[in-house]
Amino acid sequence: MKTFVIGISGVTNGGKTTLAKNLQKHLPNCCVISQDDFFKPESEIEIDENGFLQYDVLEALNMEKMMSTISSWIESPSHSPVSTDQGNAEEIPILIIEGFLLFNYKPLDTIWNRSYFLTIPYEECKKRRSTRVYKPPDPPGYFDGHVWPMYLKHRREMEDITSEIVYLDGTKSEEELFSQVYEDLRQELAKRKY
Ligand SMILES: Nc1ncnc2c1ncn2[C@@H]1O[C@H](COP(=O)(O)OP(=O)(O)OP(=O)(O)O)[C@@H](O)[C@H]1O
Ligand SMILES: [Mg+2]
Repeated sequence: MKTFVIGISGVTNGGKTTLAKNLQKHLPNCCVISQDDFFKPESEIEIDENGFLQYDVLEALNMEKMMSTISSWIESPSHSPVSTDQGNAEEIPILIIEGFLLFNYKPLDTIWNRSYFLTIPYEECKKRRSTRVYKPPDPPGYFDGHVWPMYLKHRREMEDITSEIVYLDGTKSEEELFSQVYEDLRQELAKRKY
């Protein structure tokens, strides 16, 4: 069966989950898989010399499990356990995968029909992150000592990747971002109908 797979990645608090949920509400036959659901338990997360848990790296994620969830959806899109929308059987099944480390993960390279990457500046990111409570909570200094440096490292690595990535300005309003991406997707999906 034909499917359409969308990647929404970007910096922490860039608005990935918000955008994915807004799109899901308006796209027929659309499922969302969130990378955040695949973190390993805290006991398996490495700790660096400063005592910071190393959460913002691929090793902190059970990517094999995430890949098998994705594969199950691709094999049988309409019967997926992650489906939240019955949708219309005639529409092409759409999968949105959202998470902070998607385009650096080689086994996913060939899966994307469209890739988006949300960015926000350092100050805005630090401000948004400080309003959230993560499990476990960010200890003092965690943003500057782990989260932001890892983001910069992953962005540098991502630049070597050849596939086309559409960069989005995460400081735009939720509505603006939704409209921009929805319009872009409508055009991309139309190219597939002949
Ligand atoms: N376009 C936006 N403008 C302003 N604030 C936003 C926007 N989109 C999301 N937010 C806010 O920023 C915070 C992070 O949003 P969201 O959870 O969608 O980001 P995320 O990239 O999924 O973050 P995480 O790194 O935790 O997965 C939330 O408090 C949300 O309300
Ligand atoms: Mg999120």
